[in-house]
Amino acid sequence: MKKYIKYNIALLVLATIVSCSDKRERQYQYMPDMYVAVPYEADAEKGATGVSSNLKPVNGTIARGNVPYEYADTNADYEKAKSELSSPLVQDEVSLEKGKKMYTIYCVSCHGKKGDGNGYLSQAEKFIGIPSYKDRDITEGSIYHVIMHGKNLMGSHASQITHDERWQIVQYVGKLRNDLLK
Ligand code: HEC
Repeated sequence: MKKYIKYNIALLVLATIVSCSDKRERQYQYMPDMYVAVPYEADAEKGATGVSSNLKPVNGTIARGNVPYEYADTNADYEKAKSELSSPLVQDEVSLEKGKKMYTIYCVSCHGKKGDGNGYLSQAEKFIGIPSYKDRDITEGSIYHVIMHGKNLMGSHASQITHDERWQIVQYVGKLRNDLLK
């Protein structure tokens, strides 16, 4: 028992020496965020990063990575997008693969691996009326429009997927449709 007490005291002394050895040196910080403010100062003109955090974007500017979508969620604009809109991306094998990946995350549960409308949610009868892509007269533009705004029971996926990813999915859906029509 005595041995343990001695041992504990020695440890305590050692810990004190180590932790207070040099007051001028920065000690080890367990969670730095708790000591050093995160560089967003809500009321400051500019935060520590030099980036304004509370200023409104200048009129007419677009946040990096965002591409505005000018077609409204109406039947007329669906038809417009369907006839005029086409993919701005280079459509190669790489973008097709990326499209497949995103499709598998966001669309496959309803539309199925082949795009025949036989996804898990369809099989489980959680969703009815999921079409096979081959039965719909769809174009690049209409597919993009439906990803942006949804259609009837299908919700919008605009907020989950970036501009480029949407077009990659469009390419992949086009491929699935072509395969189904063969
Ligand atoms: C929760 C189930 C569900 C998910 C997830 C889903 N869809 Fe749909 N989708 C539907 C339903 C239901 C319809 C039929 C809508 C209608 O015409 O009434 C549909 C229709 C479509 C159509 C045909 C629209 C037309 O113009 O006729 C396309 C294209 C489509 N979806 C693409 C996608 C893509 C791409 C994704 C993934 C980003 C996706 N869907 C995710 C349920 C879903």
